[in-house]
Amino acid sequence: MAILNILHYPDARLHTVAQPVNAVDERVRRLVDDMAETMYAAPGIGLAATQINAHEQIIVIDISEDKSELRVFINPRITASSGEQMCEEGCLSVPGIYEMVCRAEKVTVEALGRDGQPFVVEAEGLLAVCIQHEMDHLKGKVFVEYLSQLKQGRIKNKLKKRLRETM
Ligand code: NI
Repeated sequence: MAILNILHYPDARLHTVAQPVNAVDERVRRLVDDMAETMYAAPGIGLAATQINAHEQIIVIDISEDKSELRVFINPRITASSGEQMCEEGCLSVPGIYEMVCRAEKVTVEALGRDGQPFVVEAEGLLAVCIQHEMDHLKGKVFVEYLSQLKQGRIKNKLKKRLRETM
């Protein structure tokens, strides 16, 4: 396994739209495993392939306390959603920034697992937020794009300034 480099906002590659996975083969399983290792090392609770510059529809999530419940979603589709919730979100691609975003309270998601088998999950609360956040990445959307232009500008400047300071 390997820890992969995570793209940081406002990297234009984060706006790439991911393609569906044709077959869950050995290559895809290796990518899933590398993504999981990268997410745990960060540490984070979710990672989309877009964030490691692989533009395929793959997401890994683990919201458990002890990091023992890895969830893998390949070619995820939201087939139903209901309600609303406000949640403070962060993102491994937007380090140090936490902002409130409004999401559906419940979502039903169909996807393929790491074994290539289809499954359906009805998610609510944090898991529902996380799935929606990661699925946005696959569409080329970063959570800060839900914020006002003014706020987005401030976040961009902050991240660029931080980048200069670490160089
Ligand atoms: Ni994110």
